[in-house]
Amino acid sequence: MLARAKLNLALHVTGQRADGYHLLDSLVAFADVGDEITTGPGEDDRLTVDGPFAEGAPPLAANTLGHALALVRGWGEATAPVGIHLTKNLPIASGIGGGSADAAGLITLLTKGRVLSGQEMADCLALGADVPMCLAATPAIIGGIGEDNRPVSLPSAHVVLANPGIGVSTPAVFKALDQKTNPPMPDWPEPQSFGDLISYLRSTRNDLMAPAINIAPAVEACLDALAGAPFARMSGSGATCFALFDTTYDAERLATRVQAAHPDWWVRTGALT
Ligand code: C5P
Repeated sequence: MLARAKLNLALHVTGQRADGYHLLDSLVAFADVGDEITTGPGEDDRLTVDGPFAEGAPPLAANTLGHALALVRGWGEATAPVGIHLTKNLPIASGIGGGSADAAGLITLLTKGRVLSGQEMADCLALGADVPMCLAATPAIIGGIGEDNRPVSLPSAHVVLANPGIGVSTPAVFKALDQKTNPPMPDWPEPQSFGDLISYLRSTRNDLMAPAINIAPAVEACLDALAGAPFARMSGSGATCFALFDTTYDAERLATRVQAAHPDWWVRTGALT
């Protein structure tokens, strides 16, 4: 199962709840780049990990995969021991929802993709605010702290993902955000073409970009490297940035250039889904 990278094409922070969580108005899409998860019977619950970012993956009990397994057990499923194999292709703590996508992927595998109840979705939200959107894994406008999901259609687009090799703490970025109450995104215009999508995105923001750049100035270098694209922005709380293109050719061309200039960065291309 491919646990795909989540991209916040726009992310407006519109308020803060009494418990500290921030209210969002965010346009989310996915890239066909992600972690690979497989499950099988095991003698005991076991996680094996390979892939380029295997080293940063916590052991099962401290991993979102372990939390997801415990959740599904609490629903009375997956009662036998489970062997989980993760190929960790996505950088960790990088604003593209890797840990949430892994949890959502495992929940989908263990529940065989059945529809989850309202209470079960609330449990998923408590596991991680991005888990419900990763379970849906379709382009959507997200509200609340991640629980409201209004699916939208996007015109076809290709993406370059670039991470300058640093992890950024999401709580630290939210904490460093000065203005917690910002205007929501303009009304969704149902863009029919790539150009329409880009025009709309130019009227939106990622409110977490300024605090993330303060904490991790490399985000700015990453955005500079993507500056030749029709549109580039940071995803989530960073540090991964994305650039959008209407052809694979143009996306590949920029990715090759960025990777050559920054051999130690993580750079990938994919289709936006
Ligand atoms: O839910 P998740 O574990 O992904 O969130 C990590 C942290 O990010 C939270 O503890 C909170 O500090 C911050 N956060 C937030 N508002 C959100 C999502 C996350 O303040 N909507």
